[in-house]
Amino acid sequence: MNAVSDDRVLIFDTTLRDGEQAPGCSMTLNEKLRVAAALRNLKVDVIEAGFPAASPGDFESVRTIAQTIDDVIICGLARCNAKDIKRAWEALKAADRPRIHVFVATSQIHREHKLQMAKEEIIRTAIEGIQLARELCDDVEFSPEDASRTELEYLGEVVEAAIQAGATTVNIPDTVGYTVPGEFFDLFTYLRNNVPGIDRIRLSVHCHDDLGMAVANSLAAVQAGARQVECTINGIGERAGNCSLEEVVMALKTRENYFGVQTGVETKQLYPASRIVSNVTGMHPPRNKAIVGENAFAHEAGIHQHGMLQHRATYEIMRPEDVGLSRSSLILGKHSGRHAFRQRVEQLGFRIDDVELNRCFEEFKALADRKKNMYDRDIEAIIMNVDAGNTGPWIIDELHITAGTGGIAAAALKLRHTDGRELRQAGEGDGPVAAAFRALEQATGIGLDLKNFEVHGVTVGNDAMGEVTVTVEYNGQSFRGHAVSTDIVESAAFAYLEVINRIARREDSEKAGDTDAAAAGTT
Ligand code: KIV
Ligand code: ZN
Repeated sequence: MNAVSDDRVLIFDTTLRDGEQAPGCSMTLNEKLRVAAALRNLKVDVIEAGFPAASPGDFESVRTIAQTIDDVIICGLARCNAKDIKRAWEALKAADRPRIHVFVATSQIHREHKLQMAKEEIIRTAIEGIQLARELCDDVEFSPEDASRTELEYLGEVVEAAIQAGATTVNIPDTVGYTVPGEFFDLFTYLRNNVPGIDRIRLSVHCHDDLGMAVANSLAAVQAGARQVECTINGIGERAGNCSLEEVVMALKTRENYFGVQTGVETKQLYPASRIVSNVTGMHPPRNKAIVGENAFAHEAGIHQHGMLQHRATYEIMRPEDVGLSRSSLILGKHSGRHAFRQRVEQLGFRIDDVELNRCFEEFKALADRKKNMYDRDIEAIIMNVDAGNTGPWIIDELHITAGTGGIAAAALKLRHTDGRELRQAGEGDGPVAAAFRALEQATGIGLDLKNFEVHGVTVGNDAMGEVTVTVEYNGQSFRGHAVSTDIVESAAFAYLEVINRIARREDSEKAGDTDAAAAGTT
């Protein structure tokens, strides 16, 4: 097996590729860079940064991540065709350690209904794709998509052909979350016992959570010899999501006595990375989510609390500090200085340059004047908001609301476009939020179908900040926007504007001729 020792499991993060495919989880370039920096702090081994042929936006983000994030393998996905592979290489070639990941579906149902290709044709396609990728890059991963529903012997033949063609990692995906741990263990054992050359490559596992078994299935594969696990922060991903990175990493660490393997992950960065991804996507893990949920380390029952006071290990198998959860969250006030602010920002897992730090510090001071207590969540919100405000092209200069009980509310809006246009627009609705949304739609000409509206208190108290997440549909596609302010109507307007800006940017780039976008569609 290449490079690292046999008891080391590589962590391959696909938050920016498979995770980003989850409805409403698409990220801007700035947001992707923020997540990529968090993944590097976390010391994952591989970052799958995107699918360069899928859209100009994806290409650009993979290229920027490849140029700016070092000390980690940067991977890009490609179908097994020359156009995708060359495009992936174009995006990746500036990386210190690039990897091309090629895939083709192998199961009967995909062969017959999606690809209309015979078994031999699939093998030929895989070989040609891998060989071309190897001409460009030394590190090539191959995935037989829907492997868990592929006939076992045929899967063995595909994997053997992939190894001979030069794949350095072979990944076995449970694309539709169909398998169960015992069966997956047997599948990996079969491959290890029957495929010539399998010891020369790294075997990898990639699970989806449709039956809630992605982590269990990944662990079963590790027991059977997989030495790379593909996963996402907070388990985000299409449908029920992917294998959750924090869960699989903490299972391997907490039960090292059982699994006998290690990862290189800096587990203290797990909670900060989770917060960054949930802030960026607006998708918050449930309170009872393992490792990073609000309640993951909370002990309510008296008998548990009593036991904990006697000895923490009575009811605690992991320490909150090991996953980066700090016990005291009340911090900094309006007299705190820039140095203390920077320290706290870094403890929260953010790496920001001086210009951005200054902007955030100004925001922090302004908010600290209005709010008595400042919490970690307030600081996170400031950093994420400063990001959102940067994205344009539309910027809200003024928003005035008139509302009372039981009547029509009115919004008056002043908007500015980065091309210099300035617009004033009034809107009405049966509440202040609806009025603000109407005014934004009329001013920008982008009409959205609101599907979901959520408000979270970021912290506690009368002066707490409120975070609004909106999920909308536009032309059949789902988008999510979120924003934070001490005024909930303002948060709602900024969240709505975030989506409008995303759509406006996409339409602008399509008008500029980048139409390669659409139809690449992966799993
Ligand atoms: O789920 C899947 O099969 C994938 C592959 C492209 C690895 O995401
Ligand atoms: Zn997948």
